[in-house]
Formats: sequence, C-alpha cells, structure tokens
Amino acid sequence: MCGIFAYLNYLTPKSRLEVLDLLVTGLKRLEYRGYDSTGVAIDSPDSKNIVMVKRTGKVKVLEDAIKEHFSGGEYSEPVMTHIGIAHTRWATHGVPCERNSHPHRSDEGNGFVVVHNGIITNYNDVKTFLAKRGYEFESDTDTEVFAKLVHHLWKTHPTYSFRELVEQAILQVEGAFAIAVKSKHFPGECVASRRSSPLLVAIKTKSRLATDHIPILYGKDTDSGKPQVLPRSDSTSEFMPEEKEVEYFFASDASAVIEHTNRVIYLEDDDVAAVRDGTLSIHRLKKSLDDPHAREITTLKMEIQQIMKGNYDYFMQKEIFEQPDSVVNTMRGRVRFDGNAIVLGGIKDYIPEIKRCRRLMLIGCGTSYHSAVATRQLLEELTELPVIVELASDFLDRNTPIFRDDVCFFISQSGETADTLMALRYCKQRGALIVGITNTVGSSICRESHCGVHINAGPEIGVASTKAYTSQFISLVMFALVMSEDRLSLQQRRLEILQALSNLADQIRKVLKLDSKVQELAKDLYQHKSLLIMGRGYNFATCLEGALKVKELTYMHSEGIMAGELKHGPLALVDDSMPVLMIVLRDPVYVKCMNALQQVTSRKGCPVIICEEGDEETKAFSSRHLEIPRTVDCLQGILTVIPMQLLSYHIAVLRGCDVDCPRNLAKSVTVE
Ligand code: AGP
Repeated sequence: MCGIFAYLNYLTPKSRLEVLDLLVTGLKRLEYRGYDSTGVAIDSPDSKNIVMVKRTGKVKVLEDAIKEHFSGGEYSEPVMTHIGIAHTRWATHGVPCERNSHPHRSDEGNGFVVVHNGIITNYNDVKTFLAKRGYEFESDTDTEVFAKLVHHLWKTHPTYSFRELVEQAILQVEGAFAIAVKSKHFPGECVASRRSSPLLVAIKTKSRLATDHIPILYGKDTDSGKPQVLPRSDSTSEFMPEEKEVEYFFASDASAVIEHTNRVIYLEDDDVAAVRDGTLSIHRLKKSLDDPHAREITTLKMEIQQIMKGNYDYFMQKEIFEQPDSVVNTMRGRVRFDGNAIVLGGIKDYIPEIKRCRRLMLIGCGTSYHSAVATRQLLEELTELPVIVELASDFLDRNTPIFRDDVCFFISQSGETADTLMALRYCKQRGALIVGITNTVGSSICRESHCGVHINAGPEIGVASTKAYTSQFISLVMFALVMSEDRLSLQQRRLEILQALSNLADQIRKVLKLDSKVQELAKDLYQHKSLLIMGRGYNFATCLEGALKVKELTYMHSEGIMAGELKHGPLALVDDSMPVLMIVLRDPVYVKCMNALQQVTSRKGCPVIICEEGDEETKAFSSRHLEIPRTVDCLQGILTVIPMQLLSYHIAVLRGCDVDCPRNLAKSVTVE
C-alpha cells in the first residue's frame, strides 16, 4: 500500500540535498509495502515555491531523477527549517503514471501539496463541488480533491491556521486515509492526520525527551490557547531539553524512522498532528468521553539491523531462515518448559471470561487466515468450544451474527489490514470480546483490541508472509495450552505438545537444511504453469498457505487441495504432466492420505512428496521427496510449511520475479 514519509527539521540546518537523501531513504524503507510510483516535494532554493519530482516505477528511478533535477549548488546550502514530503503510491484510482503520482497539488502555484494513503470514498462529490467553483483536475486520483479542498478553504477562510484548514477538509471527506500536507503559505509547518490508515510521528532531539506523552487539544487554535509544546515547553516540565532544535518524521510505519530515532507517537483515527515553530501538537475536533487525555510517546524496541537484508539476497529469504529464532521469540517469557506452564500476559486476566464464551471466532486475511485454519483443530480439542474460522472480507459481506458472549480473535501481521480492522470494529460494536494477534506493536488492531498476544516475530519486510505465519501458529497453540491448563484429561496431550515445542527450533533448522534439495526441485517445476498441493487434517492449512506463496511470488497458478475432496473433482486435473505436491505424514489421517497418493499415482501423476524422515513405505511412491523430522501432529504444519516457503522462493528467483515486492501486491492492505 502507499507509503508516507515526511521530514521536518527545525533549527537543525540541513541542505535540501540532505533532505532529499533522507526522503529517498525513508521511501526505500517503505518499499516493502508495495507500490508502483513515487514522488517528493521540497522547497525551492528561494523558499518561495515548492518543487516536486515524481516518477513511475521504483524508488531508484526517483533517486536518479532527483540527482539529475537538483544538481545546482543552491540545493547544497543549509536551511535552518524545512519540510519535505515523500510518497510511494499503490494505484487505486488511476493507472500508475507521473500524473497520478503523489504529492498532489492544490493549484498551479503549488500552494498546498498532499501525500495520501487510503481511499477517499466521497471524492466524486467533493470533486463536483470544487469543479463548480472553477477547480480543474489534472489526475485521476481521489487525493487531488483533498489538496484542492484545502486550497478552497484557505481562500474562503483566510484567518484559519494551517491546522484548522486541514481539519476542516478532513471533516468533509469520507473513507480511509493517512495524509501529510505541506504548504508554501505556511512555511515551516506540517500537518498530518489519519483515519483507518496508519501514521506515526517520530521525534528526534539531541537530549532526552522531556515528556513521555503529548496532551490532546480540542477546538480552534484561538480557544485552545497556545498548543502544547514539544520540545519547546512552556517551561513547566523539569525534563524538557535545553535546546530548541528538533526533527520530526511522519511515516506510515516505524521501519522508515528507526534509523533516526526510536521515539514515536502512533496517531489515532481523526488525530490531527501539527508542527508549527518547531512545536508539535495533537488535536481532535470532537471530544468523546472515552478519549484519553494524551498520546503516549512510545520507545521502539526495533533495531535497524532487523530491517536490513544482511547477507541474504532477499528479505523473504532472510525471514524464512530466521524462523528457528522467531519461533523461540514468540515463546520467550511465556512458555516455561521446566514447569510445563504457559503465561500469556496480554490475555491472562481475560481467560476466565474466554472460558465462559459461547464460541471462538478466528478472523483474518490471507496467510493470517491460514494460521487460523492450521490451529482450529487443536483449539477445538483443547478448549472444547466451537471454533469458527472466517475470512474477514467474507465475514463482513455476510453481516454475520455476533453475540456478546462471542470471543473474536483478529489475526494480522501488520495489524492494519482494512478488512480485518473493519471486522474487528463490527464485532466490538456488538459487544464481543476482542483479542488481537499481531506482530506490530502500536498497530490499529493492537490498540483497538480488548486484549491480545503480540507474536514477537520481529519486523517482516518481504510482502510474502513467512515467519509471521509460524509465530501466529505458535501463539494460537500457546493459547490452546493456556485454555486447557486445568483439564486433567488433557494433561498428557499438553505435555506432548510442550515437549514438541521445546524441540521446534532445532527441527526447523533441520528442515532449512533441505534448501538446496528444494532448489533442485524448483528447477524441475519453475517452467510449469500450475502446481497442485494436496494434504488433509493438520496439513491442509500448509496446502492453502503453500499455494498462496506460489501464486503471489511466482505468478504461477497453484491450488491447495483438501485430499479428501480429490475424488469430488480435482482428480480430473491429474495426468502425467500436471505438477503435484502431496503432504503425507504419519498422523491419524495417514491411511487416507495414502489413498489419495494412490489415486494420484494411478492416474500417472508423479507427485513430489513431503513425508517423515525414514518413511520408506511412503517414499516408495515417488523419486522426488522431502523428508522432515517427526513431531506431534498439531505442530507438523510448522515444519511442512517451510519447504513450501523455500520452494515458492526458489521458483520465483528462477522465474525472475521480484521476490520481496510481487507485482500488484502490498504488504499491508489498508484499503477494503
Ligand atoms: C501473505 O503472504 C500475504 N502477503 C497476505 O495474504 C497477508 O497475509 C494478508 O494480506 C493479511 O495481512 P496481515 O496479516 O497483515 O493482516
């Protein structure tokens, strides 16, 4: 999805070239979100105008264009205070082209320029309103109406502050958005806001920040008094730094700012953050009873190394190979293998309420949905509750009945997926208990849940989700174990699972050693058009997830098939040329899987088989197999998905696909 990055230096001299460098680096950190065009806006050398450069394609293309465009010495002069805004666009309204790229401007004089993430759903109405007043539009985007609306308000309300203009514009638009606005009429100021799309403000000062929160202000500038100051305080705070110099960053996510500062404020829906004279204030137009009085300044725990590729060729590859560590991080501090105890701090106070619920609902999209499919059977077994698994988009389409005694889990790596977030709000309104399972601290789903589990997989940059899946899987397994803690009849089963969890990291390492064998298999498969992946029971989720990985990374057709359904249709696809992969493990459905294997081989199918180490009987069915270590049935899915991740990765490389940023896809899908 679109990425926003804006940088404001106050009394910290920087040349425009340095600012551009910062903006381009910020955009590079957001590249993983998925995009098709880019753009930046900075002040002209005399600071009287705004200059924009936009390009279709990668950030590198923009970087080269910037080098060409801003070669003059005037751009290397330091400026004390300056605002630059930058954007990566993922097309929703209008094809990817320079004309549709952001920033968008209010008028030919570039009075106001805007970068935006999300969709303004009533943009046609606003456009008609503005067109009647003489505004002409130069792009196909919804964003442009926002820039022109601010301009119209500025013309009609000349006494309004910059922040008030943006606030008034926000009141007129519907939909989801994060925006950052720069204006030549308000030099040195930046205004940003969000509704349903993520946006944070990061603060960099030389000395320690004087406060860990920013009070929220309401109403107009004129009746709110002087906006709350950061870091230039009204001197009441004893922690306020001496110096006035400060730098602010506005970004779609933390990976774009972590190399500059770890102090961030996650904006809430309808917050308007404004910087004026180097001071940051956060406003809300309307006060509601449950509004907190302040926004917390969070200290990010993330390290810059975590978002760098290191020695790997791609982020996805790095993230696959991180799994022996990421699964341990998910369990760290929660699972006590010596005492066989599990504590999930984020939900422990809610366990009695959860135990009394009518049913558990697991809701997510894509890979996150698959983690729900993967653990449903175990949750049913250990909680003895009905467990319903839902795709967030379908759940919303159906207006699904939800009751006060439902417990709804929202699973999302990013914590920002629009469909999942909308489903969460739908269930919350109906009184259900909301549990968030996310990887992104401070994300919307995190903040809007009653309680939750942070999966602690570390930043996942590759668009294709890998380590987040295995960590979501383990988080849900841990939840099932917590729910069954006091069930005597389940103790043996719990011990077996705990034992398997303690061996998991080593077993994943062993599976990762199959890498070169998987690469050889990929050479057999990469020129084919299709790949069918079959399994059942605990491994059906691996089939779905494996097929999703193949589709998104390699652009090949792939289908995850429930082996029990084979004879009800998909068997017709099987012949001696159709590539098939089958998961056949020694678990309660082994005999049924063997039947399916026989059905395939007797139609001249020659499947690749994922089986257990040393299972000669199963291996005898094909010359191509991958052997994985034995583990407890309900955790097999973690070991079987890794060869699928590796296979899709290698096929993508062989087909020359962009592994980390597959075409048409975004890491965090913040539009419905
Ligand atoms: C997975 O490889 C995909 N990129 C996609 O299916 C993803 O899992 C889905 O969009 C949900 O994202 P979330 O976990 O951030 O909510």
